[in-house]
Amino acid sequence: MESQSVRILFLGDIVGKAGRDVVCQKLPELIRNFSIDFVIANGENAAAGRGITGPIQAELLSAGVDVVTLGNHAFAREASFEWFDQEQRVIRPVNFPVGVPGRGYGLYRAKSGVIVGVINAIGRVHMSPADCPFAATERSIESLRSKAAVMFVDMHAEVTSEKAALAWSLDGRVTAVIGTHTHVQTSDARLLPSGTAFLSDVGMCGVRDSILGQDVAGCIQRMKSGFGPHVPLADGPAQVHAAIIDCDVTTGLATGIKAITYPDVVH
Ligand SMILES: [Fe+2]
Ligand SMILES: [Fe+2]
Repeated sequence: MESQSVRILFLGDIVGKAGRDVVCQKLPELIRNFSIDFVIANGENAAAGRGITGPIQAELLSAGVDVVTLGNHAFAREASFEWFDQEQRVIRPVNFPVGVPGRGYGLYRAKSGVIVGVINAIGRVHMSPADCPFAATERSIESLRSKAAVMFVDMHAEVTSEKAALAWSLDGRVTAVIGTHTHVQTSDARLLPSGTAFLSDVGMCGVRDSILGQDVAGCIQRMKSGFGPHVPLADGPAQVHAAIIDCDVTTGLATGIKAITYPDVVH
C-alpha cells in the first residue's frame, strides 16, 4: 500500500501589520502553488510587534492559518487573556509555569483529514526563566502519541544550539522541530538521521528592509547610544519566510524540508 504524504507550511514570526498583510495576501497562493495541507504560523509579534489580540488571531485564522504558535511575547497584550483559554487554535509555550492562561499543544485536522499534533516550546538560554523545554515537550509528545503520528514542535529560542539539542533529542519521534524567535532565516534545513526535519530558524513575515522587523534608523540609533525611544516597526515591502515540510502520515516522519522566502525578491 502506498503511504500517504502531507505537506505542511510553517510561517516565521509574523511582525506587525506589514507581516499580517503579507501573510493574508500571499497565503492563498502559497497554499495553492505548493499544495499545502496544513499551515502553522508563529504570531507572537503580530500585534504591532508584541503579542497578539483576539481580532488579530481571528484575522490570521481566517486567512488560512490552521494553528498560531507564540513565544516570549505571548502575553504582551492584556486584552488577549480572555480568549486564550477558549481558542484552541492558538497555543503558547508549553513550558511556561503551571497556571498561566492557554495551552501549549493541541491536535488539529489538516485539509486531507490527517491529524496533526503541534507543540510550542520556549528556550531558556538568553531568554526569560521557563520550565525545562525538553521535559515539557516529552510530556506533550506522550499525550499526543496515541492520537497523532504527525507532530510538529515550534522551538522558540535565541540560540541555535538549544534548538538543535531539542531537535536531535527528538529525532525519529516527531515530524519536525522548527526554530522561531530570531527573525533571521538560517540555511540549515535538513532531515536528521532518524527522520525528523529540522531548521534552526524559519525567519519572519515582515518588512524586508528592517532589523528583525523594526525601523533601521531607530535600531541603529538605539544600538549606538545604548538607550533611546521605543523603536517603531519598519515600513516598506514585506515578505514571507517559511518552511515547507513533507511527511509520511503513517510513520509521522519527514521526507523533505525546504526553507523559502516568498516572494523571493520584493520590488
Ligand atoms: Fe519574534
Ligand atoms: Fe520571540
